[in-house]
Amino acid sequence: MNAPAIVPAVKTPNAMEILSQLLEGELAQTEVEISSQMMSNVGLIPDVAHHLVDAGGKRLRPLLTLAAAKMCGAVGKPAIKLAAAVEFIHSATLLHDDVVDGSNLRRGQKAANLIWGDKASVLVGDFLFARAFRMMVATNSLRILEILARTSSVIAEGEVLQLASTSAGTAKRETYFEVISSKTAALFAAATECGAICASADEDTIDAFRIYGQELGMAFQLADDALDYGGITQELGKRVGDDFREGKATFPLIAALEKADDKQNEFWKKVLARKHSDEDLYTALTYIKQTGAIEATLNEAQSRADLAKAALDNLADSDIKQALISLADMVVSRIR
Ligand code: IPE
Ligand code: IPE
Ligand code: MG
Ligand code: MG
Repeated sequence: MNAPAIVPAVKTPNAMEILSQLLEGELAQTEVEISSQMMSNVGLIPDVAHHLVDAGGKRLRPLLTLAAAKMCGAVGKPAIKLAAAVEFIHSATLLHDDVVDGSNLRRGQKAANLIWGDKASVLVGDFLFARAFRMMVATNSLRILEILARTSSVIAEGEVLQLASTSAGTAKRETYFEVISSKTAALFAAATECGAICASADEDTIDAFRIYGQELGMAFQLADDALDYGGITQELGKRVGDDFREGKATFPLIAALEKADDKQNEFWKKVLARKHSDEDLYTALTYIKQTGAIEATLNEAQSRADLAKAALDNLADSDIKQALISLADMVVSRIR
């Protein structure tokens, strides 16, 4: 009898991998653009920027820009510049965000603020923002410039609103949704909307892409906030539990507070008013799991993902459209 053939395990590519394959050439050009725009005679700038950018990152936002542009026609040089600019805005916000949040792990590496300090992170973040605008000018579109300028101020508003509402005792769903819509979904929306504009799409199509990006961004941040309680640091590349340590009123905490019994309420009241210890985090996690708050967060994320998918309903079918549809589900079930 013949020995059974050994079939190598073939991993099915996920939606991000499929998108990356479908846009392989365009993504490679975007990486070249990103790398060349980090250059500066002031050595500390490329040092800090390369540390963050070379650590990886999913490149989700530039992928969205390229996907929208390709679905609407073609990806020319302006769309490449735009995709790189969008990743620069994202990178700038990460440098600033890690200072504000006092985070020490980003993309599985030491956060830049831990190596070079807060001042360098803030200033290099400013440099990346400014470079992003220089790249956007190269798209020759005032409309794109206007959208991304507005988006940049909206992101800052989201971060400031979050800072101003960190006292989790006063956590409200509406505030939370306003925070994540501004700090995260706005850039996703701009990434897809501007990709479509770059390819001279009609207004209905541009609207569809904006809504897709907006809802995908909401789903993405909800899932991220679920991962902050239910994820694994090694997979995620950032420290699980940080939202609780920082007193951030994210959806899992809000959902747990809504369902809390008397004993849990007493704990939350006490713990949210003081600096949290690791023991507090352990108890918080227990209560969050007991009240089904992570599932509630992921259900909310899935509703947003469904809205994202529905936004693409009237667009012509293609491989990229199918990958964008799968991507919406993938951001909800992701582990990193
Ligand atoms: C991190 O975004 C910031 C959030 C909006 C949660 P990503 O998870 O897309 O970060 P990278 O670029 O892949 O590291
Ligand atoms: C992400 O904020 C949004 C921005 C960076 C503007 P978070 O603080 O929730 O993201 P992580 O957890 O640090 O990636
Ligand atoms: Mg953060
Ligand atoms: Mg987070």
